[in-house]
Amino acid sequence: MGLEEHEMGGETASQIETKPVYRTEAPCAVEIPGPCGLVIFGASGDLTKRKILPALYRLQKNRYLPERFFILGTGRMEMSTDDFRGKMLSAVKEAFPKDFDPSSWNELVNRMEYCVIDYDVQETYAQSLREKLLQLEKKHRTGGNRIVYLAIPPTLYESVISNLGTTGLSREEGGYTHVVIEKPFGRDLDSAGRLNRIVRNSFDEKQVYRIDHFLALETVQNILMLRFANSVFEPLWNRGYIDHIQITASETLGVEQRAGYYEEAGVIRDMFQNHMFQLLALTAMEPPVSFGAEPVRDEKVKVFNSIQPFPLDRLSDYVAIGQYGKGRIDQNPVPGYREEKGVSEKSVTPTFAAMKVLIDNWRWNGVPFYLRSGKRLSNRRTEISIHFKPVPHLMFSNTLNELIEPNRLVLRVHPDEGMSLILQTKNPGSEVCLNPISMDFCYSKDVLMDAYEWVLLNCMHDDQLLFVREDGVEKTWSLLTPVIERLESTTAMDQFPNYAAGSSGPEEADLLIQRDGRAWRPL
Ligand code: BG6
Repeated sequence: MGLEEHEMGGETASQIETKPVYRTEAPCAVEIPGPCGLVIFGASGDLTKRKILPALYRLQKNRYLPERFFILGTGRMEMSTDDFRGKMLSAVKEAFPKDFDPSSWNELVNRMEYCVIDYDVQETYAQSLREKLLQLEKKHRTGGNRIVYLAIPPTLYESVISNLGTTGLSREEGGYTHVVIEKPFGRDLDSAGRLNRIVRNSFDEKQVYRIDHFLALETVQNILMLRFANSVFEPLWNRGYIDHIQITASETLGVEQRAGYYEEAGVIRDMFQNHMFQLLALTAMEPPVSFGAEPVRDEKVKVFNSIQPFPLDRLSDYVAIGQYGKGRIDQNPVPGYREEKGVSEKSVTPTFAAMKVLIDNWRWNGVPFYLRSGKRLSNRRTEISIHFKPVPHLMFSNTLNELIEPNRLVLRVHPDEGMSLILQTKNPGSEVCLNPISMDFCYSKDVLMDAYEWVLLNCMHDDQLLFVREDGVEKTWSLLTPVIERLESTTAMDQFPNYAAGSSGPEEADLLIQRDGRAWRPL
């Protein structure tokens, strides 16, 4: 059954229940933010080209950007404003090869400038950057509202943030100053704590926007709407009715050009400390008092505080890791992780992990959350599946040989963004024959805004809801740092590779869930 969104017009509620119809309305209006300037550190880098500029272009095309707005790119690379504009044009054309709109681009490009900076030299902040910024603020009348986006390698965060502080560029002078910090935020509890202290020396927490781009995905934002704008789910959303929850983020891609970073990170730092734990928090949290950044982030932190620390002496009961060997993706042969460019042939970096997470609170006691994420798996899929308990009494047991499959709610983050509810129905014809059906909702693709568009808009709107707070980041590191350290000190070279590229992951992950009498959803 493929239901689009329901329409209320002209029908009674009872008609709607029995006969769903479809809505093709535009999405709710997006509020256009007030004037501001965006300073991008790392303007010649990959992130600016792949994500930030395409998002800005789309915002411009949809007329979501303020009229009084400018982009000041900055970086170590010597280049003129014209060169910068040319590079960004190629990047945007590459991102939208089919529907590039020159007039939208022209409106944006005239508001883009570039200035060179040496990240380590304070004078370049105090002079060239500051002067250029003031000049652009005057020209575009942005009232001193500034967003400083750090699209730079994390090794530069500390010096750039400190230099912004010492040269006064972090101060709010008339308007707001927001700083956007990309993940990874630290590589363990100590480094995240140190980075937070450095940030705090220069910025107030309300100026800080730590990105987790998963939080800005439409389908992830929808989790809170689904849970708290409907009364049908909340009464069932607990240990009384839910058997377990699975959260999956599987990718077909390998390590790509990022071996340098990934060798040092591995899947737990790369995906679990941030994306996976954020999905878990949104699924598990209590209803916040209101839909605001602080109440929502308070509830997420409460979830992290209730997670049972992983027992290091029995870690293999809770965590399974893997690394891909060679295999096939879409019929094509692909190399193993150790054969990838820039990866050590003796690498013990995990590219896959599965975890059982237990939450010690009234709602979730005894309900395991199984998380898994990995590279070079058979399919690209990000989803949360809620597995309900079986019915308490099987009154059909005399006539049905098989067990009835319990209900399942699947929230699809990617692909086919939407959700499905798996229900049992009577199969027409035979007297007692149950048929599991899937009630589906799919977002239509063209209404979905990209995560980076949301990130930029919310940052302009002064809204930190989709961003991670300092206590949240430290709490997740405090749960995972001991696990990472233990795994790093005990993983032997001959343990890997333990899954083939294109498979559904290592056997250890299957065992982890099978020991509890459960199974992963097929990828
Ligand atoms: C990033 C990770 O944060 O998320 C990558 O560093 C991963 O390794 C990516 O591939 C997945 O996000 P998306 O949006 O591409 O599914």
